[in-house]
Amino acid sequence: MPWCWLGTPVAPYHEPAMVEKHNPKQVAGYRAAEMVQTGSVVGLGTGSTVFFVLIRLAERIREEGLEITAVPTSVDTETKAREMGIPLVSLDEVGSIDLCIDGADEIDGDFHMIKGGGGALLREKVVASISEREVIVVGPEKVVSCLGTTFRLPVEVVPFARSLVVRKIQLMGAEPIVRMSDNGGSFLTDNGNEILDCHFPEGIDDPAALELALDAIPGVVESGLFISLAHAVVIGHPDGRSQVLEKD
Ligand code: A5P
Repeated sequence: MPWCWLGTPVAPYHEPAMVEKHNPKQVAGYRAAEMVQTGSVVGLGTGSTVFFVLIRLAERIREEGLEITAVPTSVDTETKAREMGIPLVSLDEVGSIDLCIDGADEIDGDFHMIKGGGGALLREKVVASISEREVIVVGPEKVVSCLGTTFRLPVEVVPFARSLVVRKIQLMGAEPIVRMSDNGGSFLTDNGNEILDCHFPEGIDDPAALELALDAIPGVVESGLFISLAHAVVIGHPDGRSQVLEKD
């Protein structure tokens, strides 16, 4: 007999000292949803953290009578928000947005960000640009000291110009790859464009300068660099705590 439990005392189970029970995305999303005031026009970002914002906003609409109109930044968010009963309007119907809540793929100490992991960077940037206040919801792993170190920078390109843009970005020292979809073709954004996910081996030293350089390439529609657009960041933690950091 290779082993036998008989007579062997079973070690009692002890709870670890700190049990990580909370989903940081939910913690951050719920906290940010509490910032929304009745009567406001709200920008709804895109992604799995914003999903929790939508859930909490829908609850507040049902339970507290919260009155908002919301502008979604993607077809995905539009579909989810509509299913949850959040009143939506198009960007054409609003002059400005009081508060936009969105996620990020990376955020640095200056609140500069990489966004576009879900491919919604263009509409997210348009909505952020007309928002009085942009609040970013993230887990702690998204906070970095240098952009580009944990995530490739998405760049939205017109399909016609893809090869040209790839070569120009390679000349900048980056390694772009075309984002693919599950069906084997190129991933297409809500705007019918492609995404180049660009690896910067040394990280991104000067995000503002890089954004300008990328925007200057013909065929680039938008980059996932969000410079000076965020006003606050809500960081959710696995122990259930949330931190709200305000831009100086
Ligand atoms: C969508 O294109 C992105 O900009 C998202 O906001 C970003 O990728 C964060 O997504 P998660 O909250 O799913 O990590």
